[in-house]
Amino acid sequence: MKTLIIYSSKTGITKKCAALLAANIGADSCDLFEISGNIPEISDYECVVVGSYVRMGVIDKKISAYLQKHKDELFETKFGLFICSCLADKVDEAITKNFSEEFLNRAAIIDWFGGELPKEKLKAVDKLIVNSIIKIAKTDPTFTVYEKIIPESITNFSNVLKEN
Ligand SMILES: Cc1cc2nc3c(=O)[nH]c(=O)nc-3n(C[C@H](O)[C@H](O)[C@H](O)COP(=O)(O)O)c2cc1C
Repeated sequence: MKTLIIYSSKTGITKKCAALLAANIGADSCDLFEISGNIPEISDYECVVVGSYVRMGVIDKKISAYLQKHKDELFETKFGLFICSCLADKVDEAITKNFSEEFLNRAAIIDWFGGELPKEKLKAVDKLIVNSIIKIAKTDPTFTVYEKIIPESITNFSNVLKEN
């Protein structure tokens, strides 16, 4: 299944998940592109996957813009969407907030691949934000900070795309 995977990643976690997904689908048939790269035509592929990190509740605006711009082509192709993020309780909210209903209805699969917080890769201001999120999580039960990639979700995602 010739697959195009487009992703955006600030600290490398979404990139790592995109590469794991490509390995699951079959790396030979997958082309991986960072959103700022020279992305090929959707019509050259049987399947398209778009993935982004979430920061302050939102996915990368370049990914949102790509989805809007290529909506019609995507809706004629099999496609899946994934996010990488660390607030386990906010995953559903992040998905419904960032992907419009028509995307939710038409995607073969939309899922969360978990996330990580590689503190050594964060800018000082981002470290402050992360520290305050972790602090809130200690007292607010609706803020669970989850710091792991979920390989089973990636395998399942690839299986759903292969089966559909
Ligand atoms: C400044 C900052 C803000 C973040 N905001 C959120 C958020 O609103 N919700 C969430 O679930 N995760 C949030 N995260 C966690 C990231 O989504 C997580 O670290 C993800 O794995 C990053 O992927 P990347 O390495 O591809 O950029 C935030 C992380 C940082 C550094």
